[in-house]
Amino acid sequence: MSSRTPLVAGNWKMHGSLMRNAQLVRDVVAGAASLHDVELLVCPPHVYLHSVAQLIAGNALQLGAQNLAEYEREGMFTGEILGTMLADVGCRYVIVGHSERRSLFGETSQMVAQKTRAATAAGLRPIVCVGETLAERNEGATEKVLKTQLGTVLDTVELSQLRDMVVAYEPVWAIGTGQTASPQQAQDAHALLRGQIAARDAKLADSVRILYGGSVKADNAATLFAGEDVDGGLIGGASLRAADFLAIATAAANKSRS
Ligand code: PGA
Repeated sequence: MSSRTPLVAGNWKMHGSLMRNAQLVRDVVAGAASLHDVELLVCPPHVYLHSVAQLIAGNALQLGAQNLAEYEREGMFTGEILGTMLADVGCRYVIVGHSERRSLFGETSQMVAQKTRAATAAGLRPIVCVGETLAERNEGATEKVLKTQLGTVLDTVELSQLRDMVVAYEPVWAIGTGQTASPQQAQDAHALLRGQIAARDAKLADSVRILYGGSVKADNAATLFAGEDVDGGLIGGASLRAADFLAIATAAANKSRS
């Protein structure tokens, strides 16, 4: 049994409203009360962070953001959001380098690494997303892509700052498609990523949680989480329905007890 507490993180992406968020959070909080041995996190759009923080106050449910600026100080950066501001409104985590940010908003591995550093400087736990496209997998480049994406972070940020880092392996071809990696493909990628960290710091590699993301649903979560290096999931679509999100959380909690 691993000593790593599984984490199940809901990435709401650009979904929600004050009213729907309140209902969703109420239902998740109620259902999560009976769950142990799993950490639960929701990542709403920035404008809703403050209100969701109030809804979850006093509960074990954690709050995270979906993105942050690469800067470490306030300044003239219209439209950007500083890590300390996220911490100020109650965030504990922040997702960095999601493939949608990389592919749609031009985030390079270097920018992702700087954002990771900015997150740790603000006292936030970064959830660093890495993953290959279908074309990259088909041409046998998965290992190279993952090594470059994670390697840039490991080269840029002091390892001592990465104690609270979480890594999310999200094959781009599995995100929002209904198609998942096979449990073996997920485990292989996770072992590769953990090995890459172990080459620099064995203790860090042992404690860092590596989440699988990409079409995790209530009915496939248990098999996807079965691999010994899979420490939970980063959940998109299914995190918007409390019953589904809770079923996935239950699968992760069962793993930590098995
Ligand atoms: P999905 O998204 O669960 O809807 O595939 C996962 C993610 O993008 O984090």
